[in-house]
Amino acid sequence: MRLEEHLADCDEDLKELILRIGNVCKTIASGFASHQTYSDTQNIYGEQQMALDKWADEVIIADLKKSGIVKYLASEEQPEVLKFKGTGSLGVTLDPLDGSSLIDVNLAVGTIVGIYRGRVLAPGKEMIGAMYVLYGPLTTLTYTVKKGVHDFVLNPDGEYVLMKENIKIPEGKIFAPGALRKNYLPGHLKWMETLESQGYKIRFSGSFVADVHQILHKGGVFTYPGYVGKEQGKLRLLFEANPLGFIVEQAGGATSHGNGDILEVRPIAVSQRIPIYIGGKDEINLIEKINKEGLRT
Ligand code: F6P
Ligand code: MN
Repeated sequence: MRLEEHLADCDEDLKELILRIGNVCKTIASGFASHQTYSDTQNIYGEQQMALDKWADEVIIADLKKSGIVKYLASEEQPEVLKFKGTGSLGVTLDPLDGSSLIDVNLAVGTIVGIYRGRVLAPGKEMIGAMYVLYGPLTTLTYTVKKGVHDFVLNPDGEYVLMKENIKIPEGKIFAPGALRKNYLPGHLKWMETLESQGYKIRFSGSFVADVHQILHKGGVFTYPGYVGKEQGKLRLLFEANPLGFIVEQAGGATSHGNGDILEVRPIAVSQRIPIYIGGKDEINLIEKINKEGLRT
């Protein structure tokens, strides 16, 4: 089944947004070779080339600006929320190229999108949909509009076709832990040691979207915790944690910032960071339990 058919029951603007982003991500997927070669250098015509993440940001923003369906757009690459003229009412958060430090070593990176009906400076629970496109050996598109989580693959004819419908996060023993062990906070260290003693195996690529995609399909948990000197961690609430957390929750998993659901956090700034735990319910319950007990002693 083609993506367009799968979205048949969606609100028109939401359907158009997902299709548009899917389309513009085809441009990004096919532009890696030419843009990467010259990133941050001059091309043969003496023109300065943009880094790939900036280029991806511009390509997506230009497309959404002319779409007429988006009102607010917050991008990790932009200092301010953009407000577009017209009758559109959708709010979009964008991490145009997550994991972009891995491009030079040819590992998987992705585009992450959160979708709101209106303002984006809102708790993740208010999203009406979320999606990501992962550029790996295959280009895949994963989306939810709160009716299950579905995976599509870009086929050789340039069409996204259904690969897996109604994904449910399975039980699994993979963990993807960011940050340095020597800086772990006590509760996080205890949680890590508990998982290790239960036989969890580390798989951390350095690309959040790729690591969460693996967890979504194989079970386990992704974390980029808060740590000594950076208690809010590294990753961004609006651009990274919320969209992927929303997708994993829709697939039967859970999220936490260590002491509560990430999706319930009311953001005060678009660039806000947050400690992240995303994955199976058991692993998420465990970090919350350990942190609660820690507070009592
Ligand atoms: O967007 C930030 C990011 O590249 C994520 O994709 C990834 O999980 C993280 O940073 C990796 O951070 P570090 O380099 O500290 O392991
Ligand atoms: Mn990112």
